[in-house]
Amino acid sequence: MNEKFIIHADECYQKAEEKANHYFQSLYAQVKQKTYVPTLTEDIHLWKHNHIRHYSLFPKRKEKANAGSYHNYIKWLNYTGKLDNYLNRSISYIFMRDLGKALNSPDTERRIRDIVNSLKTNLLSNSVNQKNDTEMFSMTGLYRLAQKEGLESTFIWLINKLKIVSANIPKEMDAEHAKRKLIKIIAGVIMQEIEEMTDAISLEERQKRLKKAIRLGYSYGLTYPFIDDLLDAKILSEKEEKQYAQLIRTTLTTGVVPALDDWTGKNSELIGYIHSELREAFEFIKAHQRPEKREGFFEQSYVFFNSQEIDRKKDLANENYTNEELYIPVILKSASSRLIVRSVIGAPEDEGFDSRTFFYGIYNQLADDFADMFDDLKDGAVTPYTYYLKYHDKRSDLINPFELYWTVISNLIHQVYHSDKMTREVILDRAINGLKRYRERAGKEKYKEVMELFASGNSKFNKLIQQMVRKADDVDFFDKLLRDHMIASLKNDRQGQEDFIDKAKTIRSEINKILNIPKTNEMNNSIIDAANYSLAGEGKRLRPIVTWFMGVNAYGLTPSTLEALLKSLEYMHTASLIFDDLPSQDNAKLRRGRATLHEVYNVSIAELTGLFLTQKAIWEQTTLEQFDSKRVLKLIQYSAQVTADMCRGQAMDLDSKGQQLTLEQLNTMSFYKTGLGFEASILMPAILANTSKLEIEALKKFARHAGIAFQIKDDLLDVEGDTALLGKTIGKDIENNSSTFVSILGVEEAKKEMWENYCVAMESLQDVPRNINFLKHFLDYIINRDK
Ligand code: IPE
Ligand code: IPE
Ligand code: MG
Ligand code: MG
Ligand code: MG
Repeated sequence: MNEKFIIHADECYQKAEEKANHYFQSLYAQVKQKTYVPTLTEDIHLWKHNHIRHYSLFPKRKEKANAGSYHNYIKWLNYTGKLDNYLNRSISYIFMRDLGKALNSPDTERRIRDIVNSLKTNLLSNSVNQKNDTEMFSMTGLYRLAQKEGLESTFIWLINKLKIVSANIPKEMDAEHAKRKLIKIIAGVIMQEIEEMTDAISLEERQKRLKKAIRLGYSYGLTYPFIDDLLDAKILSEKEEKQYAQLIRTTLTTGVVPALDDWTGKNSELIGYIHSELREAFEFIKAHQRPEKREGFFEQSYVFFNSQEIDRKKDLANENYTNEELYIPVILKSASSRLIVRSVIGAPEDEGFDSRTFFYGIYNQLADDFADMFDDLKDGAVTPYTYYLKYHDKRSDLINPFELYWTVISNLIHQVYHSDKMTREVILDRAINGLKRYRERAGKEKYKEVMELFASGNSKFNKLIQQMVRKADDVDFFDKLLRDHMIASLKNDRQGQEDFIDKAKTIRSEINKILNIPKTNEMNNSIIDAANYSLAGEGKRLRPIVTWFMGVNAYGLTPSTLEALLKSLEYMHTASLIFDDLPSQDNAKLRRGRATLHEVYNVSIAELTGLFLTQKAIWEQTTLEQFDSKRVLKLIQYSAQVTADMCRGQAMDLDSKGQQLTLEQLNTMSFYKTGLGFEASILMPAILANTSKLEIEALKKFARHAGIAFQIKDDLLDVEGDTALLGKTIGKDIENNSSTFVSILGVEEAKKEMWENYCVAMESLQDVPRNINFLKHFLDYIINRDK
């Protein structure tokens, strides 16, 4: 069996090479005769009517909307009546590139029209509702979308996978780019799958296929960061690299992932993770391939991998590569990467798709390589552009890749797509847009320099191109906007999250400094010692941290005036934990990484300390002298109510042991025992700042759902967490027969509930008219925490 595969691999690579060579020779002949010049000159003259405006009604300034924000740009397009064409060209392009469609088929035209319409409706309603840019790509929006399709669990699964992937991306690589690429591949696979569905498909079948597509997309997408990018990034030692490449090769030629026995290199931990993740992915793909398709899939994957290897191994110092050696692997890798997608989902054969995709790939690859040429040069990577940069003086036989690029374009428009008008429109839009973007990114000077070198083929043609680059309008694409937006928001989110965590750390250590309760000398201090023992444990201090953010960031209060409030919140909370751990309640032996209070002292001392701390909390509140006394009274009244209600919540919890609570009862119980503590930490500063009722209501809603999400995560950690990290013993809920989200709903449904509460909490923030970004990060922290 093994041998059979091995022979196939070599044979099929040869076969693929022959086909690519055939294509290459035809392009080569066209380049030599420069047939692209007259053909494309005519095309561009036809094309430019829609793109060059002689009388500009709009002042130039309007173009600036380009650089503006995502939603503003969409709104501007709509306002100027350009949105339809914009979406039409963008979707058409994706149909060509990702779905291998010919644009002149009536079916495809209809599909594109439908998608453009629904996308337009969607974008416009979004840009009305959304307060700022980051929200379009928010987790909330995506989760809501997944809900509509009944894909919550798969979504949660994917988010978790992406989190682990980005945690494992070596620092030499870019985690956001890796994530974006993965998401893009998954989106591509989903699109393919959707295009394979007929209108008659049942809801259930659609769901099943979408779930599968997401997992297949992830499984295939993983190979991008963890095979190609990893090898490109030169993280592995030379020996490791060989060993790793051999591992992949063996997998593809035998259909089985070999075990990872003795990895001696420095990256053994990384490789260990990658190996197990890729193996899972590989097994998943394999299990979902129809047996008769399996071999074809391996062959294609092998061609993909091998052509990349051949390319990667090239040495920029070698001055003897032939044009064939330079271009054939490029044709192969760019075509096979897309052909695989279709084979991954097991779509039926489609001659048209295969051949169009085969011819199309190199167009994209040359566009990408053009944009990246100086980075590639720095990395010493051989691409047609870097090689030409280095050797064009010495080697007059080398094909100018920029000329080949236009040849490919001309060949695509006229040979592959039979001079279809829409195809010409879209491909030329894209080509001119690519140059425009490059010019903007590299700067005019650099751009000119590059063009002088590469666009030397024919000066008249070049002039025409440059004129288009300067003057043509309406060549933007939605996928590019999305890409920029996605990278920006992924980076932004990550930065925001890191800043929040950093700031929270600082606040936490400030809080830790003020919690200790000083002893008084006239009498027995054991209660104070006991209180300090509980306070000194490794608590996260989340409640006072949130209070600090609310007070300082949202209401502009001075940090020092808040100290008493911070203490009071942590005292209340610590008291609740002391009670919760008592033998009569949860009977816990470990809290905040150390023995529980009643274990160290005794139950009576623990009970008295709990009471002592709740009173201390009130006392602290009475010292808030810098605030209007009416506000302070209001705060104390509220605080007393919260403590009373939390007791009732805790009683509900204890009463419900072994009971089959309804979801509604679970929510109520969690809100009372846990949510209220968070509500207090958010509302108390708002009460001091005398905020509007409306805002209080929105904050309450946020706190309620954030608090419930916090408790669900706590319940999940009780089964999935790690005692050492948590500082409290896991499995307690099961031992106590407690009614929790997990015991009632099971892990999977509990996660869905957590996400639902996450979304409602996020959405409620839209009604808070001030800087509360930290609450978003806080919520993200809640559902992602591991302690
Ligand atoms: C634990 O609260 C009690 C619950 C509400 C689930 P925390 O998880 O905030 O505990 P500490 O303060 O960090 O110890
Ligand atoms: C605690 O709920 C609620 C209170 C804050 C009293 P849990 O009983 O789940 O809290 P842990 O897991 O012991 O921290
Ligand atoms: Mg409890
Ligand atoms: Mg407990
Ligand atoms: Mg718990």
